[in-house]
Amino acid sequence: MTRYARIVGWGKFLPPKVLTNFDLERMVDTSDEWIRTRTGIRERHMVNDPNIASSDLAVEAAKRALSVADMTAGDIDLIMVATSTPDHLFPATACIVQDKLGATQAGAFDVSAACSGFIYGLALARGLIASGEIDTILLIGTEVLSRFVDWNDRETCVLFGDGAGAVVIKASEERGGVMASMLGADGSGASLLGLPMGGSRLPPSVDGIAEGENHIKMKGRPIFRFAVHVMAESSRVVMEKMGWAPEDVDLVVPHQANERIIRAAMKQLKIPMEKAYLNIATHGNTSTASVPMVLVDAINEGRIKQGSKLVLTGFGAGLTYAAVAIEWGARTPAPEAPIHRNILRKIGYNLAHVRSAMRRAVRAFYGFLLGPEEGGGWRVPIRQKFDEWLGLRGKEK
Ligand code: UT7
Repeated sequence: MTRYARIVGWGKFLPPKVLTNFDLERMVDTSDEWIRTRTGIRERHMVNDPNIASSDLAVEAAKRALSVADMTAGDIDLIMVATSTPDHLFPATACIVQDKLGATQAGAFDVSAACSGFIYGLALARGLIASGEIDTILLIGTEVLSRFVDWNDRETCVLFGDGAGAVVIKASEERGGVMASMLGADGSGASLLGLPMGGSRLPPSVDGIAEGENHIKMKGRPIFRFAVHVMAESSRVVMEKMGWAPEDVDLVVPHQANERIIRAAMKQLKIPMEKAYLNIATHGNTSTASVPMVLVDAINEGRIKQGSKLVLTGFGAGLTYAAVAIEWGARTPAPEAPIHRNILRKIGYNLAHVRSAMRRAVRAFYGFLLGPEEGGGWRVPIRQKFDEWLGLRGKEK
């Protein structure tokens, strides 16, 4: 029996602060006219609270997706977070999301494929569900790119925005969902876009920061050429796998990097531009969050219905590229979840905070109780007993 990976929940979250092109005119040598005509961007959202990180946006988007799916965090088997701006180099942002949601039954890991990450995640989800290993997956794309942008570099700072989008993917025997995928990469282009500092190649250092290596670096022109080609090519591959002609496709959901890239790729695909959904004007380029947020906007605008044939395509640092074909299965708009179920979910999220705090407290207590033997006083025999129990030392004679 074939197991299909159907999208049953979706949600997005944008931080409230909006940065317009006119705001940027006051920050760097640029103009609203240049940004709009070269990229299609008018404004973007950005996080302006230093306490908010990618996992926080992810959790908000995930809660909305779970509400649409009318599921609780306990129903999730696996959380995948696609992000280029994780909370930390490690642990995975997905683990932080798992804890914040209280998804106690879920495994969790991050997908690092830059702007193609969400589509990579959809392909992975399809495979895991088809294999029978996993039933329910929460896939999130989330970014706080504003924290890594060089606000003096007009070639990059005008492009990027913050946000998060999430979907719940569920195994079903009914045909539909993510039906075909294509994943690609060309690592010879790795130096064209990235964040040089922070990894094992160039760990954080004062000198590096002084040289600006802690900011996003990009060579836009070659990426532009690459992007047009691979967006069209990857879409063509998944359409061929599905036996779809250009006229069969109802909607293309492209990564929102540049409106001109999308127009050129649609032209190559011979699909009219009206069949591409764009929100770049108000969102900018949100990397891994762009495709899921477009999906959510297109659903909310009534552009996706049961049976719609969709092509999702993207590219990004790596260089990576990817596409998936989706036969949309869920009802849109989603029926409102009953109020009592929303209340239960809210209680669940609050309990998750309590549970997490208690687990931390218990760990801290054990840390204190089983602290160093030297000067440990009354704690020494307790520690010895505990170590014996763990098999870390033989029984005291
Ligand atoms: O998710 C993947 C992320 N990356 C991308 O998607 C990048 C793909 N590339 C692009 O979208 C475009 O290449 C850009 C939008 C980055 C640049 O557009 P372009 O049409 O390729 O411009 P360009 O780099 O060839 O620059 C043209 C001119 C240059 O001036 P000169 O040398 O002709 O005098 C730039 O210095 O535009 C100048 N310029 C700007 N002027 C005003 C570059 N950025 C700006 C700016 N405002 N913000």
